Amino acid sequence: MVEPEVKAEVKAPERRRATLVTLKEGCKLRVNRFRSERTEWTPAEILSIRDCKEGTKQFYIHYVDFNKRLDEWVDQDRLDLSAVEFPGQPKDNKKTSNNGAHQNGHAHPPARKSQKRKASRVEELSDQENNDEAEKRPRSTGSMVQNPHDDITTRIKNFEWLEMGKYRLQPWYFSPYPAKLAAMGKIYLCEFCLSFMKCKTSLKRHLTKCGMRCPPGNEIYRDKDPKEKDRGICIFELDGRKQKTYAQNLCLLAKCFLDHKTLYYDTDPFLFYVMCEYDMWGAHIVGYFSKEKESAEDYNVACILTLPSYQRRGFGRLLIEFSYELSKIEKKQGTPEKPLSDLGLLSYRSYWTQTIMEILVELMKEEEEERGKISINEICERTRIHSKDVQSTLLHHKMIDWYRGSYVLAIDKKEIDTYHKNTAKAQLRINPNNIQWTPKDWSKRYGRN
Ligand code: ACO
Ligand code: ZN
Repeated sequence: MVEPEVKAEVKAPERRRATLVTLKEGCKLRVNRFRSERTEWTPAEILSIRDCKEGTKQFYIHYVDFNKRLDEWVDQDRLDLSAVEFPGQPKDNKKTSNNGAHQNGHAHPPARKSQKRKASRVEELSDQENNDEAEKRPRSTGSMVQNPHDDITTRIKNFEWLEMGKYRLQPWYFSPYPAKLAAMGKIYLCEFCLSFMKCKTSLKRHLTKCGMRCPPGNEIYRDKDPKEKDRGICIFELDGRKQKTYAQNLCLLAKCFLDHKTLYYDTDPFLFYVMCEYDMWGAHIVGYFSKEKESAEDYNVACILTLPSYQRRGFGRLLIEFSYELSKIEKKQGTPEKPLSDLGLLSYRSYWTQTIMEILVELMKEEEEERGKISINEICERTRIHSKDVQSTLLHHKMIDWYRGSYVLAIDKKEIDTYHKNTAKAQLRINPNNIQWTPKDWSKRYGRN
């Protein structure tokens, strides 16, 4: 006898036509992702609504399945009102909506509650230059840790752009700059000390007083540009306890481009490695990574960032390479703090693959008896990449197999070709001979005196 097929009845979320007036936060609908040049209707969620001139409205939109950095304010003419899913689902779906977590894992508590949170979270500091007291006052907050309370306020970008050196940067995510400053929409940063100001005049005045032309701390790496005089790359190490104001300002800037971490202002347990391009005017920040002074989990990077104006030019790879060079000097395996962002994973995977392939391709060239044999441990020893990252990289590329009780490496010709193609690209590389750094034993120094 054939069992009758039992189908679980799952009620589809109710969708109905809406008007601009009935739309509210939490509504899901289709939104045109492009302004005018083309039309692409994309499922999205309304996170916030604001009134604009002449009775029009703008809607802060998160595109479902897209990274939050694409969230934006859109005009009403980009919304498809023909099928809107309102928050507060039919009974069957209640469980999901009451958790506040949608399929995309986002929460949207009522706006009023979040406004309150905003007020308590964000310090009411004014323009930093005009408020030296505030600058000196140790903030209760510093380094990035995983964000346990994703709320509606911190899901909305809180200002339009920041100007720094010769660049104007649009934030990707919320960053807790003082609310009054962020409300003005534009933030001006001194590119050397990272102090934030409300206008260009304040910045100009600040620059006449600010003696800094490079990050604080010790320069531990310098590599001259072979082609251009007085130009090159340098890296500074600074201590989150000693250079606290700079470290806090750096975290605020970084938060604009790091989503999955939130900001606490205790920078004491961290070291910061700030990479700069130097010229005759000074050392201009390109990116940085932070690192716990002591990590029980073998983390050699806490947060890593290349400023958007420098991205996709190999600086992220260079920062990652530098972090492993430090691990080599420490004689320890290292791994980046999890979770990695989408771009973090891409960059790390690319670095791990290239570094492991470098060893394997070399191994294939050797003509010795032991040719073709290497252990994962040996790869870790040589690269200081953590064994779990070596394994995950090999698995990702399907280069590892379990055969008769042991692992066998099988490298596709395609992988080898990709490796050669990548190495042929002009790549920025760290020259280990230029690193001037000795690790400190923080178990003796930090927090135990
Ligand atoms: N799209 C596709 N691939 C990318 C992208 C991108 N937007 N960005 C980086 N990659 C991959 C590519 O494989 C690239 O190699 P390729 O250019 O040869 O194809 C590789 O990463 C390295 O690229 P770089 O130019 O060296 O990296 P970049 O300077 O752009 O910095 C970084 C990468 C640091 C992740 C940057 O995108 C960034 O700062 N993002 C915002 C902050 C962030 O997400 N940080 C990581 C968080 S995880 C953590 O902190 C531990
Ligand atoms: Zn300054």
